[in-house]
Amino acid sequence: QPDDIDEAPMGASVSTRRTSKLAIVGAGAVGSTMAYAALMRGAARSVALYDINKAKVEAEALDLGHGIQFMPMAEVVGSDDIAVCADADVVMFTAGAKQKPGQTRLDLAEATISLVRKVLPLVTQVAPNAVYVMVTNPVDVVTYAALKISGLPPTQLFGSGTVLDSSRLRYLIAQHTGVAVQNVHAYIAGEHGDSELPLWSSASIGAVPVLEWQGVDGASPMTGDVRDKIAREVVESAYRIIEGKGATNYAVALAGSRIIEAVLKDERRILPISSLLNGYYGIDDVCLSVPTIVGAGGVGDRLAVPMSDDELAGLRASADAVRSVARQFGF
Ligand code: LAC
Repeated sequence: QPDDIDEAPMGASVSTRRTSKLAIVGAGAVGSTMAYAALMRGAARSVALYDINKAKVEAEALDLGHGIQFMPMAEVVGSDDIAVCADADVVMFTAGAKQKPGQTRLDLAEATISLVRKVLPLVTQVAPNAVYVMVTNPVDVVTYAALKISGLPPTQLFGSGTVLDSSRLRYLIAQHTGVAVQNVHAYIAGEHGDSELPLWSSASIGAVPVLEWQGVDGASPMTGDVRDKIAREVVESAYRIIEGKGATNYAVALAGSRIIEAVLKDERRILPISSLLNGYYGIDDVCLSVPTIVGAGGVGDRLAVPMSDDELAGLRASADAVRSVARQFGF
């Protein structure tokens, strides 16, 4: 006799809830690390990796699958067939040109836009209802182009923007002030790139405005020089890491997983994602990062964050920088 088999009592309800599905386009350093981060954080029950390199994408999925015993339950598949993305609830688009030492993100625009033009329509065909998050650089220009190419509403497609830059800013403030990074609330706004700017006037450490921070345990206050040094270090972070290891992947993957969770768990989390702005402090027709409510529907309300005149000028300059590159490529 086989062991007692716990048969579900007749009529037991079988969960019919669809599991949340994450699809990641591009199984390079960023895409595969993002899959790992999302799986480790239990962000999605099903993870699909797509890449044109069959051997690579299957190997990444297999390697991740071998670790599922040590993660929250999930399944992961990898394929060079776009059908693997079918019916995804969120798609992270990480495929694109890799930033080489000394290159700016804007230098990657042509190569990445032509790849988006080729691949994005194939994905939206199999996953028409997914929330799309562009991660590939230059992410603000790519997000704007992707909206035009896909025809998706600007709530359903956005870019990872300065979520990563803001985590770098918070890291550096926490390092300088000696407090937990979780108690630092500060945003980088604008381009995910050289024209980005820290919103110092709204930044706080616990309940203390950064501009009024006098230091604790002898740590020095956040003087103008300290703030300028930190702002420069944020902009230079990626260049420094690319010089040292050829690419960035861990923090951008974790930032991506934070966005995935906000969408799949409908968190309505405030994140500085890059979305199409119209009428935001008079800024129109450009994709740029400002603190935004992110939930199941994708892009929610943008927060009218109080800004100094300098910050507003910096945001407008960033908008001009991004818009001019988009225009160069006919968008
Ligand atoms: C970086 C890449 C993701 O800032 O642009 O690390």
